[in-house]
Amino acid sequence: MDTIVLAHVKKTYSGVTAVQDLSIRIREGEFLTLLGPSGCGKTTTLRMIAGLEDADEGEITVGGKTFYSIEKGIYVPPEKRKLGFIFQSYALWPHMTVRKNISLGLEERKINKDQIEATVSNALKKVQLTGLENRYPSELSGGQQQRVAVARMIAAEHQVFLMDEPLSNLDAMLRIGMRTELKHLHHELGATTVYVTHDQNEALTLSDRIAVMDSGLLRQIGTPEEIYKKPADLFVARFVGSPQINIFEGGILTEKGVQYFICGPLKKELSVQGVHQDRNIIATIRPEEIRITKEKDSAWLEGTVYSVLPAGSETIITVKSDDLDLTLKMNGFSDIQIDDKVWMDFNSDQMNYFDPESQKLLF
Ligand SMILES: Nc1ncnc2c1ncn2[C@@H]1O[C@H](COP(=O)(O)OP(=O)(O)OP(=O)(O)O)[C@@H](O)[C@H]1O
Ligand SMILES: [Mg+2]
Repeated sequence: MDTIVLAHVKKTYSGVTAVQDLSIRIREGEFLTLLGPSGCGKTTTLRMIAGLEDADEGEITVGGKTFYSIEKGIYVPPEKRKLGFIFQSYALWPHMTVRKNISLGLEERKINKDQIEATVSNALKKVQLTGLENRYPSELSGGQQQRVAVARMIAAEHQVFLMDEPLSNLDAMLRIGMRTELKHLHHELGATTVYVTHDQNEALTLSDRIAVMDSGLLRQIGTPEEIYKKPADLFVARFVGSPQINIFEGGILTEKGVQYFICGPLKKELSVQGVHQDRNIIATIRPEEIRITKEKDSAWLEGTVYSVLPAGSETIITVKSDDLDLTLKMNGFSDIQIDDKVWMDFNSDQMNYFDPESQKLLF
């Protein structure tokens, strides 16, 4: 079942189009991430779902109820939408204790004191902050403040969570720790979640599905694996994955009835045959899908190592082969060094081909 439905939603700020004709269906219990570069319309989209921003066109439905529709003249104010929201900054009240920050929203409802206390301690337990009830936000680390904000959202028992870059203020270590907590929490609570980030790694690690946006447009929506392995266009291919995907613009060569992709010294049999002969074509391959060896193999692509970046669990190697620059990723450490002569083999199954004009995936 779909919980959140955006249909042809559009938003313009005094001439600037922030969101263009956006249609997304988010399933019940799904963790959906809006991913894209700064200014692509992520926050605007989330704020329109929350009701903090009015759309210019389109319709927004949550849990079968229309929250917003220009055509039908419906507008449900944010406080009546009953959605949990975490903003880009954690926005805890500085003059209130952790307990008070969490219980504030509950006190407004008619719930007795014992029940509130139980809800607060349960929420704190879930984010592993039991015992910090009486501290003030200034007495907590950034990560702990972040977790209080999450606890507040849990305590309110909303069915839908909206989170706008909730980990952006944390250092790299804390961010990874909090990812683990958020993922487990989502598994435990099963609340439908719309999560906003510009960090492709965060999107890949947390999401059931990712919606990639660019300049207010939805470029692709799919599982992390679909987005990573079959990007719908070159924007998505470039934006997702680190180090960046290898991109080669070349042509097509036919030999004995077999079509090859050809770009400088690179020649690869096309995974789909029967492509128009006289066209340019762009091939891509992820850095981990290229094998490398120092032992000469004339069937493989020859090159010279330009740089080697060991990072413990992996090593990034860049190689030059004629005019081509290639980036490779290997597991662990490598005995390959700068200026070494090397031979590379591409995993053809994992190559994608794009149309240079439309930039869209061909196959
Ligand atoms: N209140 C506003 N008035 C005018 N323009 C706005 C307003 N809010 C957002 N915009 C513009 O709309 C576009 C989308 O903004 P939005 O905040 O949704 O981007 P974002 O994807 O969340 O970016 P970031 O990753 O930087 O947070 C941007 O071009 C932005 O400058
Ligand atoms: Mg934003």
